[in-house]
Amino acid sequence: MKTSLVCPHRILALLLTFAAIGSLPVYAQSKPVPNAQLASKQVNARVDALLRQMTLEEKVGQLAQFSAGYATGPDASNVRYDTLAANGQVGSLLNVVGVEATNHYQHIAMEKSRLKIPLLFGQDVIHGHRTTFPVPLALAASFDPAVAELVAHYGATEARADGIPWVFSPMVDIARDPRWGRIVESAGEDPYLGSAMARAWVKGYQQDDLSKPDSVAVCVKHYAAYGGAIAGRDYNAVDMGEITLRQVYLEPYRAAVEAGAATLMSSFNSINGIPASANPLTLTQILRKEWGFDGFVDSDWGAVGELVNHSIGDGETVARKALEAGVEMDMEGNLFGTVIAAQVRAGKIPESVVDEAVRRILRVKFALGLFDHPYTPDSPAYDATPERRAAARKVAGETFVLPKNDPVEGVGALLPLAAKAKKVALIGPLADNKNEMLGAWAVTGDPKYAVTLKTALAERLGDRLLYAQGCGLLSGEDANVLKRVNFNGPVGANQKEAVPDDAKTIAEAVATAKKADVAILALGEPANWMEGEASSRVNLGFTGSQEQLLEAVVATGKPVILVVLAGRPLELKWAASHVPAILEAWSPGVEAGHAVADALFGDVNPSGKLPVSLPRAVGQEPLYYAQLPTGRPAHGDLSHMPQSADEKFMSRYMDEDNSALFPFGWGLSYTRFSYSQPTIGRAQVPVREVLASHAPVTQVGVDVKNTGSVAGTEVVQLYIRNTAASVEQPVRELKGFARVTLAPGETQHVVFPLGFDELNFYNAEIKRTVEPTTYKIWVGGSSLATAESSLQVE
Ligand code: NOJ
Repeated sequence: MKTSLVCPHRILALLLTFAAIGSLPVYAQSKPVPNAQLASKQVNARVDALLRQMTLEEKVGQLAQFSAGYATGPDASNVRYDTLAANGQVGSLLNVVGVEATNHYQHIAMEKSRLKIPLLFGQDVIHGHRTTFPVPLALAASFDPAVAELVAHYGATEARADGIPWVFSPMVDIARDPRWGRIVESAGEDPYLGSAMARAWVKGYQQDDLSKPDSVAVCVKHYAAYGGAIAGRDYNAVDMGEITLRQVYLEPYRAAVEAGAATLMSSFNSINGIPASANPLTLTQILRKEWGFDGFVDSDWGAVGELVNHSIGDGETVARKALEAGVEMDMEGNLFGTVIAAQVRAGKIPESVVDEAVRRILRVKFALGLFDHPYTPDSPAYDATPERRAAARKVAGETFVLPKNDPVEGVGALLPLAAKAKKVALIGPLADNKNEMLGAWAVTGDPKYAVTLKTALAERLGDRLLYAQGCGLLSGEDANVLKRVNFNGPVGANQKEAVPDDAKTIAEAVATAKKADVAILALGEPANWMEGEASSRVNLGFTGSQEQLLEAVVATGKPVILVVLAGRPLELKWAASHVPAILEAWSPGVEAGHAVADALFGDVNPSGKLPVSLPRAVGQEPLYYAQLPTGRPAHGDLSHMPQSADEKFMSRYMDEDNSALFPFGWGLSYTRFSYSQPTIGRAQVPVREVLASHAPVTQVGVDVKNTGSVAGTEVVQLYIRNTAASVEQPVRELKGFARVTLAPGETQHVVFPLGFDELNFYNAEIKRTVEPTTYKIWVGGSSLATAESSLQVE
């Protein structure tokens, strides 16, 4: 029997640190140094030497950033970038892509500006640059940080070859409300999973050395708590207690900073009444003082100027507040460039504040090696290489979640299809739609390379494949929704056209299904512009007439497999009770069709788990498994409606269950897994030992067995509950996970370390601590895990 010890990189790194300096009391750590390159004497000596030569105007120039390409926000400026670069009035350009375009501006900066300070080019590289991988939410469903690292590394390699040494990624916002369209860019609802993915993204992009030709600096976004937008409406205010802010929402940013993140992006939202882009608590106290961050903070697009709309002052005041709080670069705002120098001259802002900001920006430029190698060499034009396509296909295969695969009478489980596939009807507006396969935020991905499900199934089935589109992706939607989706104009790549006569096309689809032995429906929502930024929704159903299409095909009595292609959790309640098999495929990227077909035919055994709870109804949102306790917990589901006042006055809805339709961590496989009772290495541990260091103090062990007849990979998950803390703690929290691949009949012993990092929480004094208590511990294949044990901290 194999044994695997789950030892996250973080624990190893901390163990090494603490071994070197001895074990320290938890509250008295010296200032951490998360990125040795940025803190290095050599880099800082070069920065200081340059800073001494700079005029105030040249310093302020470094703080300005403009989009010299397409717009990814409102009110794009129309300034002369050549002139700005020649005069040293700009430090960075975004949305300029390609060797020719970036070198053009760099030559101006290096040859015409007085101090020859290279420009820093930044770009949104979100899930691959030229090669588009699955969206980040899908990658989180793999519960495999190694895939995020790999995708980041491919993105870094391709971006750097395209003249871009700085990427606006990873997005590490905790997202617990799928009404918020940006959930697609996130790792979902959980801080432990989100932190693991955040570390992996940073490592994959930065490669622990910013100057390598295949590494880029990250810009971790959107700091902070942008995902907590009230009512899931993008750019909205965030209002939450500091304990939740720190314990849930800030954790992935902390993980990214500890992993060496070179830059962060400040967010649009306010946090408890103080805008995040001028927030001394998050930017100064937490980021700089507590986490020891040596890089710089870029504002999000226009976020400094928008502080005026937050009503915290006029342009001069908000620019000063942002700079003094710790926003060093003004993205597409032009406010720093125009109002800072005069305020320094007037004595309203100390020049040392500007110096510190410039120092941080120059540090990153030196660490990236831009002063020594400012230009990008010519490289062959991007060509979708077989190696990269293979990587995209393999990664996508890890991200699919199988929420349901019930047996059908006389047929058995519909999936995997394999031999059962006689005649297959493929139906739906996402079955053959290249534009939609790449997903949201694939700005440099080219849909022409995308493989649709129709293409991939035709390769396998030939003329046994029947096809009907069924309806348009948005046909039947309100005209105003169509206008918003097509905001770029009535024509063009983003246009989502309505199919005029749904009744006719649905009837055709029904006729097609009747000719087949099984129907596969490929349904979802448009990735652009119905997901991602500025794409909040109050309805979470399939768009347009897709639900009617689904119901009409199910009514034929043919067995139906539903493939959901969407970057957010959709409401699948009807489908879950009428469709026997559902595959959540997200937005799978350039190899979408092949990867989905691999899973449908069983060449790949689904192993993904939900990184977000799938709701029964929108009204449950924000819905997440790690709820805080209530004094009146409800038991049972809807069918257990109250028999007495005792049961009536409980925390529940009148018209829906509290629980998720499919919960966090959930996902089936074509095989089955069984779990032993978890065992605890030491079941009683003194609290002072837990507080003394970050080293594990005990471990949880479990045997996981593949009891089915095919090989499969299980994501083994460890959950804890602190049952007696001074501040109430969630009913369950993920504190460990491991992907384990097992042959039929094979058993593996999995070991999870537990120590301060897993057991701590924030007390009422806002300090991370551990107190004497009992932890309940569960290990299993989802957040519903039942195999239980306990740990006593005395
Ligand atoms: C606004 C978005 O919020 C952010 O994620 C993105 O990186 C910037 N625009 C730049 O495109």
